[in-house]
Amino acid sequence: MDTIGPVKGTEMSDLTVWNHAAIGIKDDIVVWLGSAEEASILDASQTIDAKGRLVTPGLVEPHTHLVFGGSREREMALKQQGVPYLEILKQGGGILSTVRATQATSYGELLEKALFHLDRMATYGITTVEAKSGYGLDRETELKQLRVAKEANEKHPLDIVSTFLGAHAIPPEYKENPEAFLNEMAGLFDEIKQEDLAEFVDIFTETGVFSVPESRRYLMKAREKGFGLKIHADEIDPLGGTELAVELGAISGDHLAVASDEGIGKLANSDTIGVILPGTSFYLGKDDYGRAREMIDAGAAIAISTDFNPGSSVTENLQLIMSIAALKLKLSPEEIWHAVTVNAAHAIGRGDVAGKIAVGRKADIVLWDAPNYLYIPYHYGVNHTNTVIKNGKVIYERQEIR
Ligand code: NIG
Ligand code: FE
Repeated sequence: MDTIGPVKGTEMSDLTVWNHAAIGIKDDIVVWLGSAEEASILDASQTIDAKGRLVTPGLVEPHTHLVFGGSREREMALKQQGVPYLEILKQGGGILSTVRATQATSYGELLEKALFHLDRMATYGITTVEAKSGYGLDRETELKQLRVAKEANEKHPLDIVSTFLGAHAIPPEYKENPEAFLNEMAGLFDEIKQEDLAEFVDIFTETGVFSVPESRRYLMKAREKGFGLKIHADEIDPLGGTELAVELGAISGDHLAVASDEGIGKLANSDTIGVILPGTSFYLGKDDYGRAREMIDAGAAIAISTDFNPGSSVTENLQLIMSIAALKLKLSPEEIWHAVTVNAAHAIGRGDVAGKIAVGRKADIVLWDAPNYLYIPYHYGVNHTNTVIKNGKVIYERQEIR
């Protein structure tokens, strides 16, 4: 059955597994599904023998900060000394240091860098990626980032879904007047629409960044302009961003590590997907990885993601995040697979095309060097992909070194 909506609550434990299956692909589309025995009588121009390997949909990565200049390896020492993430930001580092680097990096360099990271994501089995702006915080650099994401989507086999995160931090010159800065970013909505540069608008709702009322006003303007909504919410301090995501009908509320009981209840009774980022909790040294277990138990739909960015989660390895989700969020392997495929696709508006192997859908498929689906979260920190197929074409194959 090709279900339409995201997979919620206890349904996330119910994973469809076929043994000795075969998949027929014509051009870029899955045209046939059946048993290996039936497939042997079909006339195929080319076959790939999976040799008993696990085969799954291509992974969907629903939350990345793909396009940025520079890197922040020097911040690691500050983190080791115990300087909190929001304190580094307050002192003009963190996101703001990547903003300076991104402003200073040319369009061409940003594009090369983004394509490099996309290549790496592809090797890890990711076939669709969400990409946010948010390291410009001015008209020129935000549009530069979004145009880079658009060209990367045209140039690279992976599909990129673009989000405008101009409201990612307050530039120092607007410190006393965040509302004026939000108005400036909202002033870009029409241009972004006209150039078709983003489908979603996102905001960082957090202490020292944007408040819940500011976020509400900004996101309502975005919604009026026809954008889908996303929120970086309840990541560090519980401000009620989860509730706001539900109130505004956001497609996803992201982070939600410190969501309130009320927020979890509302999320469970909504169509908003919780995009949970346990790699960020790991990388920021949090003891508490968040409440994904309670969210699923309450009936919510959850996706998981790397949050790939140069500051709070520096990895393209979604398989590693699957292990952290198992070990720290206590999600089951079945829940985790839903969270990186069908639910992740729904979290970025691609529920009808990505995240599933089904007749009529794009042939985005991964062959794994693994005997079963339990194995990927179990054997952690390494890359298990054997072959990655995007739109019916093999884009990556593991090489033997012998
Ligand atoms: O999702 N929380 C806000 N933004 C990013 C981090 C960006 C950065 O540190 O550069 C996140 O964690
Ligand atoms: Fe993020």
